[in-house]
Amino acid sequence: MGGDVAQRLTTLARDAVAARLATGDRAVDATVGNGHDLHFLAGAVGADGHVWGFDIQEGALCGARRRLPAHLQHRVTLLHHGHEHMGAHVAPGVAAIMFNLGYLPGGDHSVTTRVDTTIAALEAALGLLAPGGCISVLAYTGHPGGREEAQAVAAWLREQPPSCRWVLLNPEPPAARTPRLYLVSLVRQQRAPTRIGGQYPRSKSMG
Ligand SMILES: C[S@@+](CC[C@H](N)C(=O)[O-])C[C@H]1O[C@@H](n2cnc3c(N)ncnc32)[C@H](O)[C@@H]1O
Repeated sequence: MGGDVAQRLTTLARDAVAARLATGDRAVDATVGNGHDLHFLAGAVGADGHVWGFDIQEGALCGARRRLPAHLQHRVTLLHHGHEHMGAHVAPGVAAIMFNLGYLPGGDHSVTTRVDTTIAALEAALGLLAPGGCISVLAYTGHPGGREEAQAVAAWLREQPPSCRWVLLNPEPPAARTPRLYLVSLVRQQRAPTRIGGQYPRSKSMG
């Protein structure tokens, strides 16, 4: 799925997510696959944090579990369910959710993420995100169905309200097979001014 470019973008996704994660946070790996993002997340949330990982391929989950270092094992819950069901398994208030779409490298290339379940999962992810939290979405365009999926993700992002900010992290001229990496952030609400004696305080500039 794009070799060097994919490698560069997975690193970019992890760097962007790492900047938002603190120890003790809760996170979700929406597509566990070979477990590289899972490993990163489990390290980043620290000893008091936790990561929930989803994949529809049990073999992928077993491999990812096996590859996870012993000291990170207790920080991870792996679920053999589609990511579209994450809302039924994870409580809201999650700091970061990573989607690395497409097929399992080294696995069956005909088992891929799909437009309908990916969009349902993004909706669920947004519902779980803590204010200030982020979702990374790496969408590949070179495999059958990938281009349509990347377009559906872009269309979904454009429909979101202003409280959901997003940026394309690799805005180089899009070649037909270039993957797309999006970072979605849920904006923190401004705190309403405190009322004093039935009136809101007036700022100095207002006189
Ligand atoms: C590109 S791989 C993920 C790579 C992984 N993040 C890593 O770091 O190794 C995509 C994975 O998505 C999984 N997948 C496909 N449909 C899914 C769904 N509805 N829910 C969860 N995982 C799904 C595939 O089985 C595959 O393992």
